[in-house]
Amino acid sequence: MTTEKIIIAADHGGYSLKEALKTHLKRMGFAVTDAGTDSDLAVDYPDFGEKAAGAVSAGLFPRGILICGSGVGMSIVANRFPGVRAALCLDEETARLSRMHNDANVLVLAGRKTDPETAVKIVGTWLTTPFEGGRHRRRLDKIREMELKRK
Ligand code: RB5
Repeated sequence: MTTEKIIIAADHGGYSLKEALKTHLKRMGFAVTDAGTDSDLAVDYPDFGEKAAGAVSAGLFPRGILICGSGVGMSIVANRFPGVRAALCLDEETARLSRMHNDANVLVLAGRKTDPETAVKIVGTWLTTPFEGGRHRRRLDKIREMELKRK
């Protein structure tokens, strides 16, 4: 069995949650690449969102996790990258649906809203729920066509 690679990044608003999740992901058997930030000193979320979402968009990682204070800034950044389907998830149900219906390949978390215990549950659900395909595939294909039209 090959170890799945995952990339994780955060700004200062997500730094401490990133550190907690890194440990958890390693325990789950993932090969974790940390694209920063490395402290809780203020940084700009687009710089770190770009590192992880860019790597997923380029096919270097199948999935990624992004964290900022609210999750909103990282979502806006990530969804600008072709092929990235980023989902801001504040609960397990949204995490499940983002996989089943949207085949989300980037999970966005809110470091200032979600405690580590809840985040671990959200991440676990998100990582283990498969995409349903079928009519959802057709809808994702339409999104892909939009990306290609605007290239
Ligand atoms: C940083 O203060 C905060 O604006 C950022 O973490 C994020 O919530 C932006 O959307």
